[in-house]
Amino acid sequence: MITINTLHPLFGAEIVGLDLTAEPTEQMRATVEQAMSDYAVCVIRQGPITDEQHIRFGRLFGPLELPPGYGTASRKPAFYAPEMFFAGNLDPDGNIKPLVPEAENLAKGAERFHADSSFNPLPSKWSLLRGVECPPSEVGGDTLFIDTRAAYDDLPDEMKARIEDLVGIHDFWKGRIRAGLVPTDEMRRTFFQHPVENKLVRTMDNGRKAIFVGGHCAGVVGMEEDEGYELVEQLYAHCVQDKYIYRHQWRQGDIVIWENRCALHAATPLPTDKYRRDMRRVTINESGPEMDSYTYWREKGIMPH
Ligand code: OGA
Ligand code: MN
Repeated sequence: MITINTLHPLFGAEIVGLDLTAEPTEQMRATVEQAMSDYAVCVIRQGPITDEQHIRFGRLFGPLELPPGYGTASRKPAFYAPEMFFAGNLDPDGNIKPLVPEAENLAKGAERFHADSSFNPLPSKWSLLRGVECPPSEVGGDTLFIDTRAAYDDLPDEMKARIEDLVGIHDFWKGRIRAGLVPTDEMRRTFFQHPVENKLVRTMDNGRKAIFVGGHCAGVVGMEEDEGYELVEQLYAHCVQDKYIYRHQWRQGDIVIWENRCALHAATPLPTDKYRRDMRRVTINESGPEMDSYTYWREKGIMPH
């Protein structure tokens, strides 16, 4: 028996009764698709699963977004499966990473609300994050979520009309600079990025509309830089009001699935040099092919070989 418990008045649900260690079924797939369409963020609390079970579950819903450099020597082998993104504070050997200067700490940028990979050319569908080792909530490391369909519904009609056909510019490095980082040339070289465009308003399959901004959205096509930034910041400020936020307190073994198309999320601070946080993410794209962004940009001749 599968039951669904809501987590917040506007969105978010816990799905109880799934067993991700068992061979996936069509019923499992359809139940999760429906719950994600209804709630945008779904929590599955079950015992530990393996990386392979996590990946197999993710692939039920779409092709994987592979991490940049997947399958090449530039990506160091790590203690988790190579198809995964790592969102914790451990190095590839599993040791706590030392603190780096605030201005160069890429992870700090995730404390601004964002949609994962909105700077990528292949649109992201969902992220599925698994808490393998989670510090107690009292010391930090909760994750915050927002339903941007609820935020869209509350926009004044004039704003809805104004943004209906506008297109946002998503630019990873610009977003990080706006968040206060000062990337070094070395950082820019190791993480190649190229801006992409996404409509500010997305219509989901169930007909609901959502605001699509977040930390990587740094401007609007056809507007002066400052004017575009001001508009996306105004929309961002509207979305991040407390009434739209669900705070997830992690328990070991949790898997949280979020819609990247109609939800934003943000990390919260943690003394990252003191507590181990092992968080592994499988990310699903709307459509294939299953590849990493470097391969995509190289094939387009935009990233040097
Ligand atoms: C992510 C992310 C936040 C967190 O995995 O994409 O933003 O709290 N995680 O780990
Ligand atoms: Mn993220």
